[in-house]
Amino acid sequence: MNLLLAGDLTADEQAEWLLALRQALPGHRLLLPAEAATAAALEGRLQIDAAIVANPPPGSLRGLPGLRLIQSLWAGVDRLLADPTLPAGVPIARMVDPAMTAAMAETALWATLALHRGFFGYARQQQSRLWQRQPQRRADEWPVLVLGHGQMGRAVAHRLAQQGYPVAAWRRGAAQVNPPAAAPELSAELSAERGAVRLLTGAAALGPALASSQIVINLLPLTPDTRGLIDAHFLAGLPRSAGLVNLARGAHLVDVDLLAALASGQIGHAVLDVFNTEPLPADHAYWQHPQVTLLPHAAAATDARSAAAVVARNIEALATGQPLHDLVARDAGY
Ligand code: GLV
Repeated sequence: MNLLLAGDLTADEQAEWLLALRQALPGHRLLLPAEAATAAALEGRLQIDAAIVANPPPGSLRGLPGLRLIQSLWAGVDRLLADPTLPAGVPIARMVDPAMTAAMAETALWATLALHRGFFGYARQQQSRLWQRQPQRRADEWPVLVLGHGQMGRAVAHRLAQQGYPVAAWRRGAAQVNPPAAAPELSAELSAERGAVRLLTGAAALGPALASSQIVINLLPLTPDTRGLIDAHFLAGLPRSAGLVNLARGAHLVDVDLLAALASGQIGHAVLDVFNTEPLPADHAYWQHPQVTLLPHAAAATDARSAAAVVARNIEALATGQPLHDLVARDAGY
């Protein structure tokens, strides 16, 4: 089959993906957009069967009449779905990369430990040579709420529950849009030795869940329903001095409301990986804020080695007429 690789990639990233994908898909022809245009000019009509995409510039997938699959290299497909020229009716698959999911669980664990044990506060104290012990709290007395119960949310909730935190996971809708893959180690409800994860669903469950959580970790998909969810009202619903961790999308969070909540002490510290504008503008208040720890959208990147195998599985399924994996529900937005 003819495959197209299109995306907002640096030259190094593109080279890494080409290598990994060509190794994983030896029987197929993988083309970059310029190569596809040249091949189409030389060969007449060129049928592209599947497009493998990493946030491609809008319009990249226009004019591909034979397209049968759009495989995202990103877990979140909000930018892809926002392209009005995206071909209608072509199945879209999200990236569900086990290495990326594991990395997300590590980042969430680091942020949770540092918030719960006050390590970000000690880093601030070090700046001013302040030797002062703070009360040491127990993990089993520090409840964590995970927003989102997809691949990432489940893995994070499970990891934190194993670590001894009382964990609840909240999902907006009662029905699961993308049911869990058969991966028992990612099942939050069956969290092993330590307590199970409490699954909460629906808008009405959010208020009480916030009120009883010291840390809230956002792993929701970005949809019209979740955009701006973390606003002044949401933040006011948390106990005073709570920790906020945003690992999903910048647009979930209303920045001015967070800055106000940090100033008032309602939020003690925020860990932010994602922003409304990326890269974060140099003059943004978050950069120098003592109660903000930020990452450059680096909480969990797709790992080309493991993700290429995930892509290959779907391409082979397409080639042999088998069911495709990890499909996006376009109307739900994820
Ligand atoms: C990263 O943010 C992704 O959606 O893959």
